[in-house]
Amino acid sequence: MTSTPLLTVAHVTHRYGAAAPPALDDVSLTVAPGETVGLVGESGSGKSTLARLALGLLAPGSGTVRFAGHDPHRLRGRTGRATRRRLQFVPQHPRGSLNPALRAGEAVAFALRAHGTPRRERAEAVAALFLRVGLDPALARRRPRELSGGQLQRVAIARALATGPDLVVCDEPTSALDRSTQHHVLELLAELRERTGLAYLFVSHDLAVVRRLADRVVVLRHGRVVEEGTTAHVWNDPRHPYTRALLAAATGLPDPAGPGPTRSTEPTENTTP
Ligand SMILES: Nc1ncnc2c1ncn2[C@@H]1O[C@H](COP(=O)(O)OP(=O)(O)OP(=O)(O)O)[C@@H](O)[C@H]1O
Ligand SMILES: [Mg+2]
Repeated sequence: MTSTPLLTVAHVTHRYGAAAPPALDDVSLTVAPGETVGLVGESGSGKSTLARLALGLLAPGSGTVRFAGHDPHRLRGRTGRATRRRLQFVPQHPRGSLNPALRAGEAVAFALRAHGTPRRERAEAVAALFLRVGLDPALARRRPRELSGGQLQRVAIARALATGPDLVVCDEPTSALDRSTQHHVLELLAELRERTGLAYLFVSHDLAVVRRLADRVVVLRHGRVVEEGTTAHVWNDPRHPYTRALLAAATGLPDPAGPGPTRSTEPTENTTP
């Protein structure tokens, strides 16, 4: 893609303590508008650290992170808040990230308030967002403990969408879900992208999941980028032995995606036994 990147990570090194080995070591990547970049690697390879840096929850030890030209760790004042709304997050465990005392609709309404949606329009906007993520708006009255994992993940996605983001960082958004729910949530993320032109930084340890959604893949190992390329290229012709090992692990499992990366919103045929 030739457009100016939305997210630029340049030569970032990060340690969680002076004596600790680097969680990220000279890592660079970009995400263009509308692009989905998959970030894969085994546990401890630094994926969530990179996600936290992209969201501005951490400042890098060295190197730079820019979202829409701004340092996401220093989004202050009016411009900072406006920029922050364009950068959202879908977590691995929505149950932990949603306030248990708030009804699902209230969680989404809070995000709408931050976006400046007037109070009188919020109930309708919440219902519209629920429908957009495939949830019955009646579920807005439930509290997190009264919803399934898949429903909660849809609430978390609705909350992320409420502010009209350009980039959504998804950290293992489907790994806590069973396989069929995982499939539906991935389809939803793909469909939202088609409709709104969103970009995703999509973190997963599972190359098969990333393949469903990503235009490009970046492979992390011990905090370093060991391979990067278009999804089709990395999938069909992995260069690094580590990528081949990840691929073997991924293809050893049932692959509900069918052949090749898909951007289709149509139901894909499930070829698993
Ligand atoms: N808050 C922290 N304090 C100290 N060390 C940390 C912290 N968070 C992560 N680390 C370390 O940094 C390295 C990278 O961790 P990170 O969570 O980014 O990996 P990951 O790829 O997301 O792993 P997983 O797939 O298990 O989520 C690991 O060695 C981890 O132990
Ligand atoms: Mg992680």
